[in-house]
Amino acid sequence: MVPDGIKREVEELREALHTHNYRYYVLNDPEIPDAEYDRMLRRLMELEAEYPELMTPDSPSQRVGAPPLEAFETVPHDLPMLSLANGFDDGEIREFDRRVRRMLKTDEDIIYVGEPKMDGLAVEIRYENGILTRGATRGDGFTGEDVTANIRTIGAIPLRLRTDAQPPPERLDARGEVFMPIEGFRRLNERRRKEGLPEFSNPRNAAAGSLRQLDSRITASRPLDIYFYGVGVVTGLRFESHWEILKTLPKFGLKTNPRARRCHGIEEAIAYYHDLLKIREDLPYEMDGIVIKVNSLALQRRLGEVSRSPRWAIAYKFPASQEMTQILDIIVQVGRTGVLTPVAVMKPVEVEGALVSRATLHNADEIERKDIHVGDWVIVQRAGGVIPEVVRVIRSKRPPDARPFVFPETCPVCGSPVVRLPGEASHRCMGISCPAQLKAKIRHFASKRAMDIDGLGQKLIDQLVDKGLVKDFADIYRLKVDELAGLERMAEKSAQNLVDAIEKSKATTLPRFLHALGIPLVGEHLAQVLAERFSSLESLMVAEEETLMEINEIGPRVARSLRSFFDTPENREVIRRLREAGVHWDTAPASEDLPLTGEIFVFTGALPGMTRDAAKALVENLGAQTANQVSRKVTCVVAGEKAGSKLEKARSLGIKILTPEAFMDIIRPYST
Ligand code: IVH
Repeated sequence: MVPDGIKREVEELREALHTHNYRYYVLNDPEIPDAEYDRMLRRLMELEAEYPELMTPDSPSQRVGAPPLEAFETVPHDLPMLSLANGFDDGEIREFDRRVRRMLKTDEDIIYVGEPKMDGLAVEIRYENGILTRGATRGDGFTGEDVTANIRTIGAIPLRLRTDAQPPPERLDARGEVFMPIEGFRRLNERRRKEGLPEFSNPRNAAAGSLRQLDSRITASRPLDIYFYGVGVVTGLRFESHWEILKTLPKFGLKTNPRARRCHGIEEAIAYYHDLLKIREDLPYEMDGIVIKVNSLALQRRLGEVSRSPRWAIAYKFPASQEMTQILDIIVQVGRTGVLTPVAVMKPVEVEGALVSRATLHNADEIERKDIHVGDWVIVQRAGGVIPEVVRVIRSKRPPDARPFVFPETCPVCGSPVVRLPGEASHRCMGISCPAQLKAKIRHFASKRAMDIDGLGQKLIDQLVDKGLVKDFADIYRLKVDELAGLERMAEKSAQNLVDAIEKSKATTLPRFLHALGIPLVGEHLAQVLAERFSSLESLMVAEEETLMEINEIGPRVARSLRSFFDTPENREVIRRLREAGVHWDTAPASEDLPLTGEIFVFTGALPGMTRDAAKALVENLGAQTANQVSRKVTCVVAGEKAGSKLEKARSLGIKILTPEAFMDIIRPYST
């Protein structure tokens, strides 16, 4: 006989654990610390061990895993789990829409639902009267494997349905994709690397490998998650549309992807695809495309299916963003401040339509962290769709002659010693007249947003420095047409054009000039701030560190850097010669220099992955102002999820409104 008090305690513990679990995994809003949750779970397990008759299949204690199985049972799906036809470009998607409308004999826009196509594995989870009774993999679509014990260990999957909103249906077969979030995948692989175990090659394989474990205690230790995207057999509940399914499942505690969108007509669905594609890299999970589904279930039934794929849905696949290639060499580049950057030279491989053969490896720590050897096979991707990066090494493919990278002790360009200063991640060349540094400095000096010398490109700079024609910035202003015309690939005409461009660059602005000097830690924005604060270059050049630090955005490091730059006699001499050569500017600060100058931003609603303060700082750094309230003066409102009255007001005033995704697109080019 179990005492009533114990029965009650067990019941209360279960109730509380279910709720906390739901808040943690589904609402993303935990109420109690993890330690407290663990304490309650341990107490429940103690009581269940003492009174086994109290055990139930939906007890939260089931999440820790059960003793291993011999093999998985196969189980039939009462309604087959179909697969999807694929489309790869806008044209194929429009063709899909034409087919749908032809079959339905309509010219009207179809209402579709677009949702991320999660890269994991499909499961079907059965709830009978609200209790989880079976979890199965998709298998071949007709029969799958019974992975109930494993499914129970996934925190985001409720063991019993929440019934605060409505009573549970008699039966609900919920379908969804189990996946491993990228962060969890990284940590798992890191742990495996330390333990000398083979790493998973991507989150999808890791998710599949984790779910198909005969020992569910292993599954319990893996960071798995789920988004539900549909239903199989349902009794005691009726749905009219797919959208209704997506909105109803969460009421039972079954998470659906909040990024799903209802789209009026195929063009909206195509736009949704391109929006998601742009933010693909910023999401915490991998998607391999989107799924576009006809919303109305009545229309879905009319459309039916062919050869195991529904005619009412299509997967619009993303281009593969990761490819595999081999590291042939690691070279070292010298930047304008002498920082040595290791760069991987790889067998060229096409990633998202562009040929990739080089990727920065950042610094020695990064190479060590990723454990990159010359000769390794690696996964490369284009971060943010543009800059190539080495994601990770495929350890199992490491050739026997692969060799670790050793940072050079001397500069590969000038031979000066290389040092790593305490507290710095990077190695630096100490050579004061290192031509590589000089070349990089001149390139920066001449660049568009600095002195803007049209036509002074890398190849030309290389020659000018190598031939000793340019030893510092001021030398640029002494170049003559006949000197230039003697250089490779330079005719009289192009030499004259360059001299004209150099001449033209003399009329500049103080912020541009300060930016061009390449003072360590002083970028475009700070150059602007300094120019606004100091009426002349002379007064800036003599300002004490304390005076500099009175400026809001200037801390001790920047102040020290400015002081030591202007205290260096060589630098003062170059500045003198530049001005002597005729470089000049108006004293009025030229504030039109920054990309968002003149804009006034208001942020409202949630911005995924970014605090509001961070977003404000970002646009302010680009020259914009920010405000808290929407008024006529405001030029742009960034409206995230749950944006309320400010969004309304912006609409009524006809102010430009950006989604967080569109906002990210605008600032991404400047945020590196
Ligand atoms: S719907 C008939 N929605 O894609 C509809 N599938 O190729 C069939 N998947 O086996 C599935 N995210 O593993 C659907 N939001 C989503 C999905 C999704 C991922 C996977 C699932 C399925 C495969 C179909």
